[in-house]
Amino acid sequence: MKVLVIGGGGREHALAWRLKQSPRVNNVFVAPGNAGTAIEEGLKNIPITAISDLIDFVKNELVEITIVGPEAPLAEGIVDSFRLAGLKIFGPTKQAIQLEASKDYSKSFMLRHSIPTAAYAAFCDPVMAHKYLDKIGAPIVIKADGLAAGKGVKVAMTLSEAHETVDAMLVSNSMGGAGQKILIEEFLEGEEVSFIVMADGKNVLPLATSQDYKRLGDGNHGPNTGGMGAYSPAPIVTPELHERIINEVIDPVIKGMAAEGQPYTGFLYAGLMIGEGGGINVLEYNCRMGDPETQSIMLRLKSDLLTLVENAIDGTLNNIDAKWDCRAALGVVMAAYGYPEMPRQGDVIHGLSELIFKDDLGKDFHVFQAGTKVGGKDGKEIVTAGGRVLCVTALGDDIKNARYRAYEISNQIYFDGFQMRTDIGL
Ligand code: AMP
Ligand code: GLY
Repeated sequence: MKVLVIGGGGREHALAWRLKQSPRVNNVFVAPGNAGTAIEEGLKNIPITAISDLIDFVKNELVEITIVGPEAPLAEGIVDSFRLAGLKIFGPTKQAIQLEASKDYSKSFMLRHSIPTAAYAAFCDPVMAHKYLDKIGAPIVIKADGLAAGKGVKVAMTLSEAHETVDAMLVSNSMGGAGQKILIEEFLEGEEVSFIVMADGKNVLPLATSQDYKRLGDGNHGPNTGGMGAYSPAPIVTPELHERIINEVIDPVIKGMAAEGQPYTGFLYAGLMIGEGGGINVLEYNCRMGDPETQSIMLRLKSDLLTLVENAIDGTLNNIDAKWDCRAALGVVMAAYGYPEMPRQGDVIHGLSELIFKDDLGKDFHVFQAGTKVGGKDGKEIVTAGGRVLCVTALGDDIKNARYRAYEISNQIYFDGFQMRTDIGL
């Protein structure tokens, strides 16, 4: 069977790598992919991004199943278009992705369905927003309403930072259209967990739990990023908490979306804050898998990913279970110089080729690539081509061992100006 993965990040490399291991998969196309998916055996990059061209490609190549990684093509309506063309695709519809694409929609949905989340108010008028800030005080959280690639949230510890952020978003348009409306949200404390499920419109299949590190620097300092590292499982999620998350957070979304005539299909990612007393609050829903959480989760997945996706598309997720490696997985992101503001491109990555294997099934690690392309002086080197460049992901008997292994391997890789946290999993 031929399958197609849409996207070009580390998450898509990990999904494509796992799909390739299905005994029923012959070819995995990745559109547009990166240097990692270009080199990996059994994967092939397709330089296509327009939805209508992707549909033509899938029809011509007789691709049977398409899986969407990032939010942008989902927000463009790729799932609706593929379904209209009679093609099988796994992801949420354009309307359903409002859960991620508009924080205001998402918060009012949570209120309608009694899903626990921080108190908030939405503003387009800066004067009203400033007044509200003065009334509530700091710390407080300001969020751009629209999609902002992980950069639309400011956790303001002081009122002056909060006022500055309001002006930046509503007056100076620092977030463009995404920040024309903002949310001002109650500040929550606790531990963050990424809880990701596959949904088929009525049933869910929970994936392994994970935790990611959003700040650029050690000790959670510096700007927010898409994620600088992750591990799976999240030890804080006990079986009891797992059941509560399903009951309080996941089931109500799936039932609520169905009741509102928008059955939710696709990966659904709930970013949760677990308070000290065990209280659960939803920080956000993402209508896709997390990056870099996916890299750790895919390294631990023992079931055939293709079978899981087929059941999700057919509405039969209630019939299957996912099996997981009982070891822990941990991924460390190596990011480009200048990330997240202005990542530099074109730095040659050294040490990678020694770590790429023809057959890596028995290996306890995988280097998933993201912002990379084949280029350089002789056109054969792998060079940086984006913000997050690599995610070195390893298995270990526990998080400590997975951490040791991931850093041991990342130390064999070098490119000028690379940024890497040293405290993932500590
Ligand atoms: P979001 O994109 O909404 O998940 O926000 C990005 C990051 O900002 C989260 O992962 C949290 O670390 C932080 N954050 C978001 N909302 C809150 C909140 N209400 N209280 C404290 N931190 C928050
Ligand atoms: N790692 C967080 C995200 O993918 O949104």
